[in-house]
Amino acid sequence: MASDRVPMGRMFIDDEMLDTANRILASGQWIKGPESKAFGAEWAEYCGALSGTPCSNGSVALIAALHSLDVGVGDDVIVPSHTYIASATCISLVGANPVFVEIEEDYYTLDRDAVEAAITPRTKAIIGVHLYGQPIATEVFELAKERGIPIIEDSAQAHGTSLNGKRAGSFGDIATFSFFPSKNMAVGGDGGAILTNRQDLVQRVSTFIDHGRSDKYRNDSLGTNFRLSEIQCGVGRVQLRHLDNWVARRNQIAARYSAAFTELNHLKIPKVRDGAVHAWHQYVIRVGDRESFQAHMNSMNISTGIHYPIPCHLQPVYSEHPQGQRGSLEYTEAVCDDIVSIPVMPLLTDDEVQRVIDAVISWTP
Ligand SMILES: Cc1ncc(COP(=O)(O)O)c(C=O)c1O
Repeated sequence: MASDRVPMGRMFIDDEMLDTANRILASGQWIKGPESKAFGAEWAEYCGALSGTPCSNGSVALIAALHSLDVGVGDDVIVPSHTYIASATCISLVGANPVFVEIEEDYYTLDRDAVEAAITPRTKAIIGVHLYGQPIATEVFELAKERGIPIIEDSAQAHGTSLNGKRAGSFGDIATFSFFPSKNMAVGGDGGAILTNRQDLVQRVSTFIDHGRSDKYRNDSLGTNFRLSEIQCGVGRVQLRHLDNWVARRNQIAARYSAAFTELNHLKIPKVRDGAVHAWHQYVIRVGDRESFQAHMNSMNISTGIHYPIPCHLQPVYSEHPQGQRGSLEYTEAVCDDIVSIPVMPLLTDDEVQRVIDAVISWTP
């Protein structure tokens, strides 16, 4: 009998989540209640940040972060091109210009020297992405500090990532998270959060997502409705209690993969930065001939993904951008041409992990 397909993701839904959702639904307090306050505080505490504000998703979290830093028309914001499109489009949506830079060869996160080379007097902020769950290099934060440029950590893929004992979300001026269903932690729908370590931003962030309101009928500053519902905040609080176990399981699976693939010279396997706990949102390998690799995995009934096949600067939305042609960021472009993600979610069984290993090993390019 053919074996079941190994998927890239599998939902975690337990009785506590269902009971929580029912309880909050029945309470009639669906927004702006105790769950969002508690979830914001618990998430900030987990990450080691000063304050946390749940919001509708990771994309608007980035817009709120830029707005809170007064980034707007005519400003430049440095961002890697190798990331999910939301890391870049948030910049354009506030009227600023994304300046795309290269990533480090081994870690796929911002390259410190590339950032330095891109800084000009117009640079108003830097968005760094802890891509796949790998933490951004400390040197990037040191550079930003030296130059007095605020840094936003796009931590959408970094729930549970840490570097030298500090968690993602606590390194920069402001950090954003996504709780999209496939992320390391979810909230039963779209969801996000904004964390900050700066006392002067706490109020700005928390009121921006609620119409800049200081009172029911009083709006002190520009804002809008980016709130997250009480049910989702309650579900997020339950999921948060599982996060460390899930990250540990992701690390166990990643360690098995890396041990099994280390001799396969036709693959480039991911490295972990010294001092880091990688959150393994994705386990991404470089394979050369991606089409052949994916066809092989598919024939073995194993799902794969690509994160991401088109770098931001080559997306049609940026066809008019000064960097919007091939050759602008050669390393990023080469990476996007041959990366592939294999299943690493915590609910994989040990047998499924072995099937993935056997399938990868049996592929010949
Ligand atoms: C790096 C990165 N930034 C931002 C986002 C946007 O998050 P959301 O889908 O919750 O809007 C994502 C989600 O896929 C992401 O991976």
